[in-house]
Amino acid sequence: MTTADFEVAVGAGAGLGEGPRWDAASATLLWVDISGARVHRYDPATGEDTVESVPDVVSLALPRRRGGVVVGLPDGLHLLDREMPPLIAAIESERADTRTNDGACDAAGRLWIGTMALDERSPVAALYRVDSHLGVTTVLTGTTISNGLGWSPSGRKFYFIDSPTRRVDVFDCDPETGALENRRRFAAVEVEGAVPDGLAVDAEGGVWVALHGGWGLRRYSPDGELASLVDLPVARITSCCFGGDDLRDLYVTTRREGLDAGELAAQPLAGALLRLDAGVTGLPTHAFAG
Ligand code: BGC
Ligand code: CA
Repeated sequence: MTTADFEVAVGAGAGLGEGPRWDAASATLLWVDISGARVHRYDPATGEDTVESVPDVVSLALPRRRGGVVVGLPDGLHLLDREMPPLIAAIESERADTRTNDGACDAAGRLWIGTMALDERSPVAALYRVDSHLGVTTVLTGTTISNGLGWSPSGRKFYFIDSPTRRVDVFDCDPETGALENRRRFAAVEVEGAVPDGLAVDAEGGVWVALHGGWGLRRYSPDGELASLVDLPVARITSCCFGGDDLRDLYVTTRREGLDAGELAAQPLAGALLRLDAGVTGLPTHAFAG
């Protein structure tokens, strides 16, 4: 297996790089350093990465249709527009044993966001859907680390990862209402030392899965067959997203925190934002309608 051709968009530095999301309106990539409590915006035209600190660990940053950015802090969604970003939708805000984690918007602009158990073991977390009026609906319960999620090109299939299950699951999804049914296994991720983390879907319906602890990504065909492997020189690959004007660049986030000196020496790019030519067009990031 050979290492994929990739470029370093932003050099190593993020403790827990995560949540890459393409903001088409500004042709920039939003991403976060969860544990560093930082929201990054990378501009491929200039190569500049601007960073904004937030008051607490930040699990995602997504563009809003009306402009601006919504972020996931441990107690829910906040607007990134002031020093103390106001809470607009509480999510498990009363709980001390969970925090928000990965999320994405569907084509209707509803924001789906999951939570995770801080002990990474207890099935006490859940997945929620936040509509344009900021109403919060519980979609799934009994998850442990709610992670990558996304939709098929038609919006009729919903992919979901609860990392410790080491599976990617798929549901039938009603694109009008967002209702899910018929959960089943899409793919088993049997890679030693790895769990599936974030995911992105391409225009052919291929599902790209980041392997946390697995030194790369996997692409599954729409029927769940393993179609290709992307090897990278960092162990903890956390998430991926299509970006660029033609949505053919795959942006990949990575994790640095927790590595010992020997591991850091072997993985100098841990914590970097990487970019590779996916060889296929991706689906767009949808903005939040709320
Ligand atoms: C979470 C991390 C977790 C990792 C692997 C990430 O989405 O934010 O805290 O360790 O997934 O499961
Ligand atoms: Ca994640």
